[in-house]
Amino acid sequence: MLNDVEICVFGAGSIGCYVGGRLAASRARVTLVARPRIAEEIATNGLHLTDLHGSDLRALPAQIRVETAPVHADRADLVLVTVKSADTAEAARILQPLLRRGTVVISIQNGISNADVLRGGLPDCVVVPGIATFNVLPRGNGHFHQGTEGELIAQDDPELERFAVPFRNAGLPLLRRADLVPTQWGKLLLNLNNPINALSNVPLLEELSQRSYRRCLALAQGEALEVMKRADIRPTQLIGVPPGVMVKMLGAPSVVFKRVAGKVLAVDPVARSSMWEDLERGRITEIDYLSGEIVRLAEKVGTTAPVNARLTALIKVAESGGRREWTGKELLRTLLAARDADNANTAV
Ligand SMILES: NC(=O)c1ccc[n+]([C@@H]2O[C@H](COP(=O)([O-])OP(=O)(O)OC[C@H]3O[C@@H](n4cnc5c(N)ncnc54)[C@H](OP(=O)(O)O)[C@@H]3O)[C@@H](O)[C@H]2O)c1
Repeated sequence: MLNDVEICVFGAGSIGCYVGGRLAASRARVTLVARPRIAEEIATNGLHLTDLHGSDLRALPAQIRVETAPVHADRADLVLVTVKSADTAEAARILQPLLRRGTVVISIQNGISNADVLRGGLPDCVVVPGIATFNVLPRGNGHFHQGTEGELIAQDDPELERFAVPFRNAGLPLLRRADLVPTQWGKLLLNLNNPINALSNVPLLEELSQRSYRRCLALAQGEALEVMKRADIRPTQLIGVPPGVMVKMLGAPSVVFKRVAGKVLAVDPVARSSMWEDLERGRITEIDYLSGEIVRLAEKVGTTAPVNARLTALIKVAESGGRREWTGKELLRTLLAARDADNANTAV
């Protein structure tokens, strides 16, 4: 039964290697489509998949097919798209002539619009939005580590039923929601920490332990919540406290925050955001699909989002080789200045 399903992971990096690797380690038939550097890494080492709870799995090179182009995508029953948002349209363009009519494609990506982009480019496929609410860290030599708690969630679709078994066997059950949109916005709210973590240039745990960085996040999330409220979007609560309470908690002194933060600080001490990794490797980040999404939504509902606009601008500077390291106090000062200038403009 399990071997009936052929799974292709398109764009195997952190999420793709972790999810695809866990599926392969539990004997599902998986092909990873990866860049040559990652394909070589896996051909040499196989995959080593660990998590914060001590799970330790291996997929040997013989257990997992890796290709640098999706030459066998026509065989796939299920395609998991795990490229960064800026590469989604290109992924659809490459896959379009290859996939069979009715192939199920799940976008396991952050942001709001990736599934729509895939649907536009793959009109004959069943495209389903999905999301991973955990963080995966590449540790080199085929080792990928899940550094935070979280789940794999997709928009419910009857077509997903036949893929439930391999995900369950992999210890990553594919949860289904009748409407994924509030979950996507809830995840986006959490991802507003990505630019702050990237600009802090320190691991997530260290960043969240400093009140000034937390206050930056509170500003970005508070602003985003206001904009979502105007747009009638109610983001799903993905961690122990409702989003609005989280914003208040973030601003608390560190001793108080540490006492009440619970799962927020249940982060691997070396984990960093993937936006930090992108800057580290000189790649374009997903900022336009995270903070940029809040700025666009604000425009749509006739308001502004100066804090998220400033974070977008700072990341763009960092992407083009400019300043990459901000202390919490410096970052807070520039975000407050952006907000105050916008308030003054609005008041005039
Ligand atoms: N990492 C996490 O912890 C995490 C957690 C939750 C959600 N997410 C989301 O999941 C998505 C994937 O993130 P990620 O961190 O896994 O990204 P990633 O590590 O950059 O992996 C994406 C991979 O796809 C490759 N790729 C792009 N176009 C390709 C093509 N045409 N053919 C073959 N490979 C291609 C990229 O190569 P190049 O870099 O060379 O282009 C990269 O190796 C993003 O939307 C992210 O926000 C990530």
